[in-house]
Amino acid sequence: MAQHDIAVIGLAVMGQNLARNIARHGFKVAVYNRSAERTRELVTTHPDPNLTPCFDLETLVAALQPPRRLLLMVKAGEAVDRMIEQLQPLLAPGDILIDGGNSFFRDTERRATALAQAGIHFLGVGISGGEEGALHGPSIMPGGDRAAYAAVAPIFEAIAARAPDGTPCVAYLGPGGAGHYVKMVHNGIEYGDMQLIAESYDLLRRGAGLDAPALAEVFATWNQGELQSFLIEITADILRARDEESGQPLVDLILDTAGQKGTGKWTSQDSFELGVPIPTINAAVEMRMLSAQKEERVTAAQTLRGPAARPAHEPTALIEAVRAALYASKICAYAQGLALLRAASDERGYGLELATVARIWRAGCIIRARLLDEISAAFTAQPDLPNLLLAPAFAAAIAERDAAWRRAISAAIAQGIPVPALSSALHYYDAYRSERLPANLIQAQRDYFGAHTYARIDRPGLFHTNWSELVRRR
Ligand code: 6PG
Repeated sequence: MAQHDIAVIGLAVMGQNLARNIARHGFKVAVYNRSAERTRELVTTHPDPNLTPCFDLETLVAALQPPRRLLLMVKAGEAVDRMIEQLQPLLAPGDILIDGGNSFFRDTERRATALAQAGIHFLGVGISGGEEGALHGPSIMPGGDRAAYAAVAPIFEAIAARAPDGTPCVAYLGPGGAGHYVKMVHNGIEYGDMQLIAESYDLLRRGAGLDAPALAEVFATWNQGELQSFLIEITADILRARDEESGQPLVDLILDTAGQKGTGKWTSQDSFELGVPIPTINAAVEMRMLSAQKEERVTAAQTLRGPAARPAHEPTALIEAVRAALYASKICAYAQGLALLRAASDERGYGLELATVARIWRAGCIIRARLLDEISAAFTAQPDLPNLLLAPAFAAAIAERDAAWRRAISAAIAQGIPVPALSSALHYYDAYRSERLPANLIQAQRDYFGAHTYARIDRPGLFHTNWSELVRRR
């Protein structure tokens, strides 16, 4: 019986699809779900000689060849801890427990440390690509013990998405919570990219008067060029879809409040922890929060005044400007996420190679995009590049779009259309390229009211001034 290569625990859609993907690649998979019904459903709906249903954890563990490899696909949070508690007494030193959910990286580190005491290896593995990706090839971001990873690498390499050059979108990333950290930042960038696309849609809808079918064409065209990406592609599809009952564009019938499960918020929180600015990702998280305040917005819409949107007669120029703005802003969102990864890696000893991270994001994951080829190339050419914006190819790409980027944002501001992600990206760019920022004045204010001291540009040391006395003396 102990002949199975891996167990998959938790058979919601991601777990089911991963189990099927692994089985399809010739590995013997023992599957288990808390409710037996779902286990039965999987093996009856998708029968595969490589999928063996198990109805209790003892049988499941006994079905595995050592070192036992178990992939947990349960909801992030307490459910993971509860499952580990149940499994631990059944496992032996050398066994490998893999958490493939969107767990918080600190939880992963805590679990890895606790399990290490029993000699059990714990891998925190980010898996991206949604249901389709899980079934046909996800992007996989593994972290934890390197030797333990080597024992699961053949399975992950077989099931991962293939980049255009044929390489699998998986690579060992680093120790501890490195894999889940990279997945968290992937999601932060995902939030940023989604918000940038949503703002571009809104600007063209309200600011150029384009309806959903017309916008579907715009996004489909964009997907042929430098913006080519999964999120642009699905946006074109979404804008094309019509409600079966009313025949109206379905997107127009969807309530405008966005949900979130936490990974975007964690990215923002940790950026504050590490002191790394990621304003475009933060804007995306905040706009989901603001979108959720629907009732208040409805009231405010009746009370607060602003300029009315004045759709241009000829939308072509605005469409081109928004396309440029979206691409330049997208580069900034990636630059911010990658800068956060760099800082976290330095601080926590992950040893991340950003070229590798970009390489495994090229296919399978939600943020897969043509741009990632160039990002990977930029970090391969210069592994210690401090910021993506400094890579010559990206500096040039933004410079080319600079004027159009500003035109798009000016149009939004003039018409009262909120574009916090697009504009935060531009402000990030302008601030990052400012040799001198007005922080000198902030330092003076801090010193004035709190004697916090300041440094000077003309001599070394720290200084305090009695500002009111200095002014009075004049
Ligand atoms: C992925 C996705 C996925 C994630 C939701 C985001 O990479 O496949 O990031 O893992 O769970 O898409 O979640 P919320 O928008 O609900 O926060």
